[in-house]
Amino acid sequence: MEEKVFEAIFARRSIRKYGDREVEKEKIIKLLKAGMAAPSACNLQPWEFIVVTEKELIKKLEEKAPRYNAPVAMIVCANTKNIPWEGSDWKIDCSAAVENMMIAAAAMGMGSVWVGMFDREAVRKLFNIPEDIHVMSVVYFGYPVRAKSPATKYNEEAIYWQKYDPSRNRSLRTMDMLGDGYQED
Ligand SMILES: Cc1cc2nc3c(=O)[nH]c(=O)nc-3n(C[C@H](O)[C@H](O)[C@H](O)COP(=O)(O)O)c2cc1C
Repeated sequence: MEEKVFEAIFARRSIRKYGDREVEKEKIIKLLKAGMAAPSACNLQPWEFIVVTEKELIKKLEEKAPRYNAPVAMIVCANTKNIPWEGSDWKIDCSAAVENMMIAAAAMGMGSVWVGMFDREAVRKLFNIPEDIHVMSVVYFGYPVRAKSPATKYNEEAIYWQKYDPSRNRSLRTMDMLGDGYQED
């Protein structure tokens, strides 16, 4: 199992170009099962998922979010009514669910991309999401046109053993490294 899990983790790369192949309903359910297996604070599982597969609706979504031609868009929301403390732990819970789904997608030969830059209020209206539900992310899923190479991104500079070392002159990544925005790949 160990090798396979690592293979899927490293194979998960952001895919921004999808072919026309639809994603089978059973696979979408498997993605959701992977998402809902994530840990959450006090096991409150505040995540909610709007699964969008209708082409017309995806087109409308793409007017408010990046257009990557994916056959499945998942709008990840949080229902925090039963969380008895303030703060944004729900973002951590939902992020764990998103990452689980993306790794599961890679394991099933699918691509995915996590989208944080979109018009939340427009998406809220478009998908009938009530004001008291948090709209966190959009995640696109589908079969990639071209596979990307696995990446580990392992970086010893980001690791401190035992205690933080403020004297370390770490060369952090910068926004320039993203180039001209996101590549459509
Ligand atoms: C919180 C978050 C928000 C992101 N938002 C976007 C986005 O709006 N558009 C996009 O194309 N990619 C987005 N990404 C994907 C990152 O650009 C991508 O993960 C990063 O460049 C590393 O590439 P990789 O996923 O192939 O390893 C986002 C990722 C995260 C975790």
